[in-house]
Amino acid sequence: MTTPPGEPGGPAEGSRIALPPLETPDRLEVVAAWPVDAPYQAWRPQVLVPGTHTPGRPPRTFAVVNQKGGAGKTTTAVELAAAWAADGYRVRVIDADPQEAALSAWLRPQHPEGEEPRSLRSVFFEECTLAEATYPTRFEGIDVVPSGLDLARVEYERPVGAEKAVAAALAEDAEDAGSARYDVTLIDSAPSLGLVTVAALAAADEAVVPLRVGGLDVMGMASLHKTIRSVQRMLNPKLRVGMVLLTAWDKSGLARQLSERVAEDYPEVPVVPVRRSVRASEAPAAGEPVRSWAPESTVASDYAQAAGLLLAREGAA
Ligand SMILES: Nc1ncnc2c1ncn2[C@@H]1O[C@H](COP(=O)(O)OP(=O)(O)OP(=O)(O)O)[C@@H](O)[C@H]1O
Ligand SMILES: [Mg+2]
Repeated sequence: MTTPPGEPGGPAEGSRIALPPLETPDRLEVVAAWPVDAPYQAWRPQVLVPGTHTPGRPPRTFAVVNQKGGAGKTTTAVELAAAWAADGYRVRVIDADPQEAALSAWLRPQHPEGEEPRSLRSVFFEECTLAEATYPTRFEGIDVVPSGLDLARVEYERPVGAEKAVAAALAEDAEDAGSARYDVTLIDSAPSLGLVTVAALAAADEAVVPLRVGGLDVMGMASLHKTIRSVQRMLNPKLRVGMVLLTAWDKSGLARQLSERVAEDYPEVPVVPVRRSVRASEAPAAGEPVRSWAPESTVASDYAQAAGLLLAREGAA
């Protein structure tokens, strides 16, 4: 369980940083079709939302996946978490990337002093529950299950039931807490389609796929889809692709071609451009989400819009 504020190891009472509402949201225009024939100069970043799209409702689990490195997975996980936390949702982020543990380094979960830190690996090897591996961060509403290099042991030791370990841990947690602890769980995956990523997809309601403009990899996308389909068939029939984000988007011809291509490949999924901004690369070093580091930036507002599309607001129809 997370250490409550004010207890040893927990954040001091009232010390968590509240993620800010956006004061001047620079919103993308929402459209049902892109103006394919519009001249390049007239092409604007717009969110494409198919008429069939219905946002989910909490509690929900999202796995951010793409086996391509540098696609924007960790940024997407952190910024969706920050946007939801700013809206008052309680968010748990699971770092499922052993190589970099970039998300853990960015959000810096606070372990109690003198206690062996637990991580997602401990959950895979049934050494503790998911709640026991969850730690608060400095940010109100965001708790993190950290990762570390030793998560890679899951890939080569393949503990029994590993493919279902995250799903089982989430189900147990919901049962223990009467599903009251978190509204949303986000899983940041490694750039691989290994066992840990499969376990993330097996636990998710929706896959969120960031694609870096300039890095479209047709073969890579085909293997991601094959994995998603296998997980749907063998492990998790409810899994669907909930959103595609075009990260580091700009107005170039390449970005436009990619956008059109992706919209054709995903006719039922919202395609959301996230504009390129240097703020995205500054925020991890600052140890803050872009949402609080540079709330005026397009990155913060584009992710806010994506977050709203994925999850209906409380009380929304
Ligand atoms: N909208 C954006 N504008 C500019 N830079 C961005 C944007 N989004 C992400 N980046 C930068 O791109 C790089 C890769 O992003 P990120 O680490 O989120 O990708 P990743 O898919 O998690 O990578 P990995 O596969 O290594 O885990 C980072 O330096 C990040 O700051
Ligand atoms: Mg990453």
